[in-house]
Amino acid sequence: MHNLYIGGRWVHSSSGETFESFNPATKKPIGAFQQGNAADARHGIDAAEDAQKKWADTPAPSRAKILFNIRDLLIKDKERLGRLVTTEMGKILKEGLGDVQEAVDIFEYMAGEGRRLFGHTVPSELPDKFAMTTRLPIGVVSVITPWNFPIAVPAWKTAAALICGNSIVWKPSSDTPMCAVELVKIFEKAGMPKGVVNLVTGPGSPVGEELVTSKKVGGISFTGHRDTGEDILRKAGIKRVGLELGGKNGIIVMDDADLNLAVDGIIWGAYGTSGQRCTAASRVIAHEKIAGKLEKLLLAKIGKIKVGDGLRKGMDMGPLVNEGAVKKCEKYIEIGKNEGAKLAYGGKRLKNNGHFFSPTLFTKVAPDMRIAREEIFGPVLSLITVKNMDDAIDAINSVDYGLSSSIYTKDMKKAFRAVREIEAGLTYVNSSTTGSEAHLPFGGVKGTGNGVREAGITGIDEFSSVKTVYFDYSGRLQRAQIDAD
Ligand code: UN1
Repeated sequence: MHNLYIGGRWVHSSSGETFESFNPATKKPIGAFQQGNAADARHGIDAAEDAQKKWADTPAPSRAKILFNIRDLLIKDKERLGRLVTTEMGKILKEGLGDVQEAVDIFEYMAGEGRRLFGHTVPSELPDKFAMTTRLPIGVVSVITPWNFPIAVPAWKTAAALICGNSIVWKPSSDTPMCAVELVKIFEKAGMPKGVVNLVTGPGSPVGEELVTSKKVGGISFTGHRDTGEDILRKAGIKRVGLELGGKNGIIVMDDADLNLAVDGIIWGAYGTSGQRCTAASRVIAHEKIAGKLEKLLLAKIGKIKVGDGLRKGMDMGPLVNEGAVKKCEKYIEIGKNEGAKLAYGGKRLKNNGHFFSPTLFTKVAPDMRIAREEIFGPVLSLITVKNMDDAIDAINSVDYGLSSSIYTKDMKKAFRAVREIEAGLTYVNSSTTGSEAHLPFGGVKGTGNGVREAGITGIDEFSSVKTVYFDYSGRLQRAQIDAD
């Protein structure tokens, strides 16, 4: 039995109920967890509130020492945690280890911020007056995370929130509570003061609801489904809200592209993590001159993808996270066929013990089909053919999302045009849609979010409040705009 972590103690939920987490490759249970309720969420918030001031008063370089400890413990435990990621959500071990590495990277980066947390100093328009900005924490922040990067995404949010002096109540996805418990144990071992990080496992309603609506919470950081994100915005009231709500990411392949390079990037983007990344490539927009050849090359590679338990050596693609995800893929296969797209490969659940689905390719897809516009979150790729660069840009921008994007071309002009015109938070040139690095901003435009960027220096912006300071040492009343020359 794994408990909630509130005020530095591992405690039961007052609900008296529990839920289980399962290995999606075997459907075997991994462990039982507390089914938190609104009262537990409130306790978590109260504990966070009690601990926050002392944490904020701790000099940032001292806070950073604990973040460095977390980084070191993550490195020491990388293999064990990577295996846990694979066991609990299914991605192959190499990617499970990458998930943990991303957490190592962000803790390292944010720990370094402990000796920066820059504000800026600018001249005042008046004499004997000093003007500068400094950063203050937001207070208590709610962190609500998905299952697809069960260590990395919580790490992005918690590392940034903690170095800025916030305290946290964290609700992880109910598909990956074990990863959450293990990460919190690392925080505890690293010396995090009691109450600074609190973990409440349990359902979105009521746990998430309380974390979103509580007046004691100053900020919310959420990654997950768009409907939930919109619901959070409606309910949060006046709070800082950071949302990352997925994508329908496209890869443009122009007629001058290195096709083998493009194919490698497409396969990695579309079928890595079984397509269950916000940054997954779910559309290829190919110039008509090379579309036929690209399709052949893709089919040859897709046919070689080995699907199986991610802990087994030699696997390229693991299972989907749960039965619901398999059903969603099946639904979209039917939708695609009915819309008139051609199912060129896959499209089936695989008959074995886990939630496996075959890598799938639809060809003859039109940009306005639902399979080309809606987020499937599975290994389902749509191939769209276009006549030229103008049409490619129109097609890639014809969705409501705007997270990641990519173009394969050798023409610098086209590459820079793509950077300028693609409506997305990330554009890769001659590389796949996935592979963001911890020290660069991450987030999207349009339906992907509300403009907040996580990770990198923008992660500090997400979790700090800028205080502008005017320090007048003239000893007389000086009126800006009025007494200035
Ligand atoms: C996500 O899917 O929510 O670029 C995060 C990537 C990873 C992060 C993805 N570094 O795919």
